[in-house]
Amino acid sequence: MKKIIDGRKISNAIKEEIKKEVTELKEKTGKIPGLAVVLLGENQASKVYVGSKIRTCEELGIFSEKYHLSEKTTEEELLRLIQTLNKKENIDGILVQLPIPNHISEQKIIDAISYKKDVDGFHPINVGKTLIGDKTGFKSCTPYGIIEMLKRENIEISGKDAVIIGRSNIVGKPMASLLIAESATVQICHSRTKDLAEKTKKADILISAVGKAKFIKKDMIKDGAVVIDVGMNRDENNKLCGDVDFDDVYEKVSRITPVPGGVGLMTVTMLMKNTLLSFKNNRL
Ligand code: GUN
Repeated sequence: MKKIIDGRKISNAIKEEIKKEVTELKEKTGKIPGLAVVLLGENQASKVYVGSKIRTCEELGIFSEKYHLSEKTTEEELLRLIQTLNKKENIDGILVQLPIPNHISEQKIIDAISYKKDVDGFHPINVGKTLIGDKTGFKSCTPYGIIEMLKRENIEISGKDAVIIGRSNIVGKPMASLLIAESATVQICHSRTKDLAEKTKKADILISAVGKAKFIKKDMIKDGAVVIDVGMNRDENNKLCGDVDFDDVYEKVSRITPVPGGVGLMTVTMLMKNTLLSFKNNRL
């Protein structure tokens, strides 16, 4: 059996589904979904992510607007832009690329985005809906993409021991909510966790979002584990790599996501899915 979970193949299949639905809805209603992407400053990684989000919109027939603001933008200015976008008829999704400069409160910005247009799934209302299993909320894109990958690869989640490394609001915590909803037994580990390997070795499904190149070695995983690598790091040769030492663990895993070509592609795809969902909820 093939061990590698092909993120490109899965995300292409989902993108085809979205594209088809967008085309059909356009024919039926004359309207198309719209996404506004806000970028502050010149963070190189953020620019790459934003570029990929805009390109994917174009690919799928989704309208997009990019707001590239100076890193000196004030909190007030950004809040005003969000208010404008909240009211804008042709915009279904609003995304402020993180991180934002320190002089602006990230939580204030997230709270200001209408929860009905919060396609990142970061607004407290959507975070809460995800936790209580209310399917009308937006799910955070990376964890949503991971669940979608597991399901499309027919990987059993129910009753499995899942260990997540990382407790961020973007990945770790929403990942736990979604895995609980799928009836996994979930443990979240983080930088203060003691005996980390003791915990990860018990995982049927191990999800790593630590941001340390090749941190997960074979002596940290269970035989036959499913390993999901959310890391996006550079190795000693400046080559893109994940949190997992792929070559080291490969023989021991049952399934594994590569970096690049794994989870990363799913994140943007699920953002498109959320934008389409917002359009259907609010404008049809
Ligand atoms: N920065 C890193 N990941 C993300 C994401 O999923 N959404 C936004 N808005 N910013 C991010």
